[in-house]
Amino acid sequence: MAKKTTRSATAPVSSTTDAPLTVPGLSNSTGHAVADALQMRVHALNDLALTLKHAHWNVVGPHFIGVHEMLDPQIDGVRAMVDVLAERMSTLGVPPNGLVGALVQARSWDDYALTRADTTAHLAALDLVYTGVIEDHRAAIEKVGDDPVTEDILIGQTGDLEQYQWFIRAHLQRTGGELVTDGADDEITAAKRAVGARAAVRKAPAKRAARKR
Ligand SMILES: [Fe+2]
Repeated sequence: MAKKTTRSATAPVSSTTDAPLTVPGLSNSTGHAVADALQMRVHALNDLALTLKHAHWNVVGPHFIGVHEMLDPQIDGVRAMVDVLAERMSTLGVPPNGLVGALVQARSWDDYALTRADTTAHLAALDLVYTGVIEDHRAAIEKVGDDPVTEDILIGQTGDLEQYQWFIRAHLQRTGGELVTDGADDEITAAKRAVGARAAVRKAPAKRAARKR
């Protein structure tokens, strides 16, 4: 790997000005606008894959192995989505940027908030991560409406992401269907609510026993 000074001096720049062509049937401007809309999805999914792997390494406590092993197929699936979108950008005539510096510069979200934490805490935080990614994927579907081929790719990916989120959420639902994190809008709050809800369930039998005495 090159030294930092060299990397910053030679970092490739992705720009539609580098794009003299696109796919047949689309104007250059339409094809390049569609490709540009995909760049943020490449960044978001790269970030999601890293975040899921980070959680895979940092979950502890009951249900460790189930959550640890559930995350790897999701990581593989998300990485495959990144590859499809980046190659679609190239197909449309615009060079994709998969570099972490560009990701950090472009993103509108903070780093994931948890390190080592209970499985329930990570699941609660990851649920919010998925919500953000899925909302933005749906918004991107609207943006690429002039190219049904790209639109179809994003629709398929959104369905897969929604299924991955369901796997996460099924751990966080009460039997009535509601999430134990309902209303939490940041990862730490969601994590605390989920862990607190599980602790409350554990304490319930002891309270009933005390009332009998
Ligand atoms: Fe692993």
